[in-house]
Amino acid sequence: MEEVREFLKEARVYYLATVDNNKPKVRPFGTVEIFEGKLYIQTGKVKDVSKQIAKNPYVELCAFDNGKWIRVSGKLVRDERIEAKEYMLDQNPELKGMYKADDDNTEVLYFEEGVATIYSFTEPPRVIKF
Ligand SMILES: Cc1cc2nc3c(=O)[nH]c(=O)nc-3n(C[C@H](O)[C@H](O)[C@H](O)COP(=O)(O)O)c2cc1C
Repeated sequence: MEEVREFLKEARVYYLATVDNNKPKVRPFGTVEIFEGKLYIQTGKVKDVSKQIAKNPYVELCAFDNGKWIRVSGKLVRDERIEAKEYMLDQNPELKGMYKADDDNTEVLYFEEGVATIYSFTEPPRVIKF
């Protein structure tokens, strides 16, 4: 899982896909951390992306970096604990202008049933389950 976080951090941007009434929706995301052994992302409850995940928690993301690309799929679980939100904001202090751990908007979610696959043109795909 650390390798997955490292890849996404190095890439700086990943593209998160959700399902919106049976249609795909994708957008750039950047926040990703490991907290208590789980891979977390962060968003705002006011966003469409959050509403889509609430309706259908199965998501997929991808990123490209340094000749390799990664695809991560799984089910996102919302964590309402203040300590999980604080951890995400502390690791990403640039978010503190927009989010506070105790506001009604900040949302952090972790992956369940996570499967990451790292691909390149020269090596066979490598699967990491977490
Ligand atoms: C480089 C980059 C990184 C971003 N990272 C995040 C993120 O980690 N979480 C988030 O909620 N929005 C992030 N955003 C903003 C979302 O892409 C934006 O709010 C998007 O419109 C949300 O999707 P939606 O319109 O379907 O709700 C990022 C934008 C950019 C350009």
